[in-house]
Amino acid sequence: MGPRKIHFFIFLFILFSFEDPLVLARSRNVSLEFPSFNLRNLTLLGDSYLRNGVIGLTRDVTVPSSSSGTVIYNNPIPFFDQESNTTASFSTRFSFSIPGVNENSYGDGLSFFISQDNQTLGSPGGYLGLVNSSQLTKNKFVAIEFDTRLDAHFNDPNDHHIGLDIDSLNSIKTADPILQNIDLKSGDFITAWIDYKNDLRVLKVYMSYSSLKPKKSLLTVHIDLSEYLKGDMYVGFSGSTEGSTELHLVANWSFRISGFLPLSPNSNPHNVSDSSVTITTPVIPISNAANNRRRSLGFGLGVTGPAIFCAFLLAFGYISFRKWQKIERVKSLKAELVTGPKEFSYKELKLATRGFHSSRIIGIGAFGNVYKAFFKSSGTISAVKRSKHSHEGKTEFLAELSIIACLRHKNLIPLQGWCVEKGERPIEREQVSQKMVNLVDWVWGLYGEGKIIEAADSRLNEEFEEEEMRKLLLVGLSCANPDDMGRPTMRRVLQILNGEVEPIAVPRKKPSLTFSCGLALTIEDIVSDCD
Ligand SMILES: *[C@@H]1O[C@H](CO)[C@@H](O)[C@H](O)[C@H]1NC(C)=O
Ligand SMILES: *[C@@H]1O[C@H](CO)[C@@H](O)[C@H](O)[C@H]1NC(C)=O
Ligand SMILES: *[C@@H]1O[C@H](CO)[C@@H](O)[C@H](O)[C@H]1NC(C)=O
Ligand SMILES: *[C@@H]1O[C@H](CO)[C@@H](O)[C@H](O)[C@H]1NC(C)=O
Ligand SMILES: *[C@@H]1O[C@H](CO)[C@@H](O)[C@H](O)[C@H]1NC(C)=O
Ligand SMILES: *[C@@H]1O[C@H](CO)[C@@H](O)[C@H](O)[C@H]1NC(C)=O
Ligand SMILES: *[C@@H]1O[C@H](CO)[C@@H](O)[C@H](O)[C@H]1NC(C)=O
Repeated sequence: MGPRKIHFFIFLFILFSFEDPLVLARSRNVSLEFPSFNLRNLTLLGDSYLRNGVIGLTRDVTVPSSSSGTVIYNNPIPFFDQESNTTASFSTRFSFSIPGVNENSYGDGLSFFISQDNQTLGSPGGYLGLVNSSQLTKNKFVAIEFDTRLDAHFNDPNDHHIGLDIDSLNSIKTADPILQNIDLKSGDFITAWIDYKNDLRVLKVYMSYSSLKPKKSLLTVHIDLSEYLKGDMYVGFSGSTEGSTELHLVANWSFRISGFLPLSPNSNPHNVSDSSVTITTPVIPISNAANNRRRSLGFGLGVTGPAIFCAFLLAFGYISFRKWQKIERVKSLKAELVTGPKEFSYKELKLATRGFHSSRIIGIGAFGNVYKAFFKSSGTISAVKRSKHSHEGKTEFLAELSIIACLRHKNLIPLQGWCVEKGERPIEREQVSQKMVNLVDWVWGLYGEGKIIEAADSRLNEEFEEEEMRKLLLVGLSCANPDDMGRPTMRRVLQILNGEVEPIAVPRKKPSLTFSCGLALTIEDIVSDCD
């Protein structure tokens, strides 16, 4: 009689149709242009995020934290041309800024990298989000670091330098941008140019506050990179913090490789460009503080706004207060849904969300987290809601889905599909009836019957102060109130537990789901658009 598990997923389509891809096969001069960033063709690893067309590499929170993130261009870049037996030259330009939320809290920095690996989620701290500290020998990369912390471990000269790193964070050569009056920590956008000329075996880095490339390079390294730029490589950025409040933003990026011998007449070089994409999807990064929950709710779905999210919550609310229906209805309901949303497998969703990775969270709600999901097969990006809400059965769930599926509103994103599998607001079998009950419902039920104390864990052998236990359970219930206005603040909870104030009043019967948001969206508003 182990706890049974059910997961519910609701699925929304957010993104826009993708333009015909520009293919770079057969082309040897490759050129990427990101005047601003979009989710297309980029993989975000770790804590990196995209907001308003700007990539953030580390977590955007104002408390000291350890964080690392990486953004990688999805397609490999051919740095070596077999036909001509030559390694490419490359040049890249990007604008970045390193704002510090707290003046005394800088570190660690960011890097532009070229790597054979497209999956490394780098470690925070001195590893710059570039390398995995537990696989040091496996890391193969060429990177330019923009380092804001003195890491004696990696022989850093100071806490303000740039450097060329190959397979290691011990830089081959460093330079201090202050020599050209560039302050990495100013928080202003700085443009960097990195040029490698394979024929001259020289790498140069230029930096400027303006978008005009200076004449004089800041760092010049005479080096033959052909040994490291073998075959297909991935390019991207990484950044990290450790106990600091520094942010790492990249606003735009262009990259090109060139310099292979002349192409045969029938090959057709393309410029790879994303400049035609003007819509960007602001995505909020994961925020780890519980008190950021409201903020995440509000901004979570960025482009479509809080209205949708609230409306969605409302719609989703229908689900939570319906009861068991007959199992036989499942099939017919499924059939009805066939034309619209489709059923996804847990596996598909898991893949599309990188195993429900925290970096994919775009919204945190009382009823579950919303994840950004990328479906390789269709090339679409959707939002997946992983519901924490308990439901008593699949029938009910599907019945509610059919309601949501018919909702059409300009502020509502259409339902794409659902999934009911696997799983974990806490479900147990009731001892007497063997019915599946939700833990909160169960405690609330006991409270309604005036015997909340029975909810205390029997393993405690009743060795507790009854009044204290009652208080604790009531605090628990008030925190689980579906009506967020009925929930106490953390400060209040502490006060209650410290006996400074009385427990918050908890209704005898669990309130049905409500939602509140600044927007006056009524059920009528939504349903009027339905049929
Ligand atoms: C951009 O992404 C789309 C869809 O993910 C893909 O089909 C296309 O090949 C990519 N384009 C480039 C230039 O990488
Ligand atoms: C390719 O070039 C390298 C030197 O750059 C040379 O050692 C090697 O023999 C060449 N390979 C072929 C197949 O020409
Ligand atoms: C990494 O590259 C391999 C092929 O080189 C590809 O199969 C895989 O999907 C890529 N992973 C990501 C996260 O882009
Ligand atoms: C580093 O690699 C190990 C082993 O593959 C993995 O378990 C760990 O999660 C990685 N660390 C990071 C920060 O990705
Ligand atoms: C890149 O973004 C920065 C910051 O927004 C801006 O100052 C710079 O002009 C941009 N560069 C290009 C080429 O768009
Ligand atoms: C590739 O780039 C190099 C250097 O910019 C240039 O000389 C060459 O003509 C380009 N080749 C093609 C086919 O565009
Ligand atoms: C590629 O872009 C460069 C400038 O960015 C332009 O001069 C060149 O003509 C373009 N090549 C092709 C094939 O479109």
